Amino acid sequence: MDIRKITILGGYGRSGARELVDQVDLKMGDLLSVVGPTGSGKTALINDIGLFANEDTPSKRRILINDTSPSEDFLDDPAKNPIALITQHTGFLSDMRVSNFLDIHARVRKSANPDSVVSDVLDFANQLTGEPIIVDGAMTELSGGQSRALLIADAVIIGNSPIILLDEIENAGINLTRALELLHNYEKIFIFVTHDPRITLSSDYRIVMKGGAMQDAITTSPEEKRIGEKVTHMDRAIISLRNQISSGERMLEKDFRAVMESNWLA
Ligand SMILES: Nc1ncnc2c1ncn2[C@@H]1O[C@H](COP(=O)(O)OP(=O)(O)OP(=O)(O)O)[C@@H](O)[C@H]1O
Ligand SMILES: [Mg+2]
Repeated sequence: MDIRKITILGGYGRSGARELVDQVDLKMGDLLSVVGPTGSGKTALINDIGLFANEDTPSKRRILINDTSPSEDFLDDPAKNPIALITQHTGFLSDMRVSNFLDIHARVRKSANPDSVVSDVLDFANQLTGEPIIVDGAMTELSGGQSRALLIADAVIIGNSPIILLDEIENAGINLTRALELLHNYEKIFIFVTHDPRITLSSDYRIVMKGGAMQDAITTSPEEKRIGEKVTHMDRAIISLRNQISSGERMLEKDFRAVMESNWLA
């Protein structure tokens, strides 16, 4: 089935009051952020999407695909499920080798060329991590950041899911700026739960959560996009400082000034 659009139909917040936003439409290629304080219902909202809620979750929201209720097939057959959810807490229980895991997934998903797909996933994932993933190592030995980077690459490349939900990937210590650049090359719907201004300001729009309810839906203005680019420069400067310190260097004021200048911040 060709997915063109998903719709969130509003339900009720934790107090039982109707949500202020009663409909959100997303089309392929859209990047949406979900923002709001801790406990405001961000994860609950993307879980509703992942479950194709049909007034059967506490929020009583409904999810439509191409303007109709999704077919049962999506829930019953994982290979047909169009949604990949990268959760806030990721860990692997299997001590299978990384190469083995990717290879099996590529075959289950009937990838045209499993070998090249596996190396594409590793290449994508390793652009997001500090130290590269060891393909002959066990899944259980991956660090938190490496696990999430691998899952994101796997969902985008092997899973080929048209809708990808990412819960607070900024906390995984992956290279977020690079992740956003890479994800922009794929025509999918990305929904980010995030506290990070870079992700929010590079999204097309954002849903603001409060008390378990969708409070507002804001389109990112051109002015906000420009601010987002400046925030990205700030991030590059921080990464550069972090790398110098991580590699054991001592910092001098002139080094700091050079980092700020090379990122157009001074
Ligand atoms: N519409 C709702 N109706 C009833 N309960 C809700 C609703 N939305 C969220 N909740 C409940 O409120 C609690 C907090 O929600 P949730 O975990 O989604 O917050 P969060 O914004 O993801 O927080 P964090 O930033 O800490 O991850 C959960 O127990 C969730 O089940
Ligand atoms: Mg959460």
